Amino acid sequence: MTPLLTEQQIADRLPPLAAEIAAAWPRPERLVLVGPLKGCVIFMADLSRALWRVGVSHDMDFVRVASYGAGTESSGVLRLESDLYHPVEGRDVLLVDDICDSGRTMDFVSRHLACKGARAVRTAVLMDKPSRRALPFAVDHVAFTIPNAFVVGYGCDLAEGYRGVPYVGIYEG
Ligand code: IMP
Ligand code: MG
Repeated sequence: MTPLLTEQQIADRLPPLAAEIAAAWPRPERLVLVGPLKGCVIFMADLSRALWRVGVSHDMDFVRVASYGAGTESSGVLRLESDLYHPVEGRDVLLVDDICDSGRTMDFVSRHLACKGARAVRTAVLMDKPSRRALPFAVDHVAFTIPNAFVVGYGCDLAEGYRGVPYVGIYEG
């Protein structure tokens, strides 16, 4: 595993990212951070605390999304396996994930949130791989833009392993 983002780099990036979100959204309406399980959890935990430090109060909620079909290459067709616990109608939502890759997950979940009546949806990711998009999707708040490589750690898994690694590494098998 080749280190890509160190613990220090991630820790240093969180306060400016939180400040950027706070500035873009000065008066959120009952803000809720929504993450697709499970890759989002480590980043959401740290981003949540960084947002509190800059005075942005919020709740947290989660969805679970799976792609139809088996195998390693995703079919590209997503389904919602587990929905939000609380309604988001009339609320502002920050959709938070570890990586935006093809863009399908964030596109699917943001459409779902809009269907559920969210007042506004913005997006934040730890890592963006813009070269991998299967559809046009722009993330509002990106901590790091990374090249097309398979990464693990800081929430990102390989067959459920490595999520707790405190930095991000390029997995080379
Ligand atoms: P999408 O292709 O943008 O829909 O990304 C789907 C999901 O794949 C993301 O939420 C990540 O959890 C996961 N993913 C994408 N790239 C990687 C990677 O390099 N390592 C581990 N998980 C990844
Ligand atoms: Mg994921």
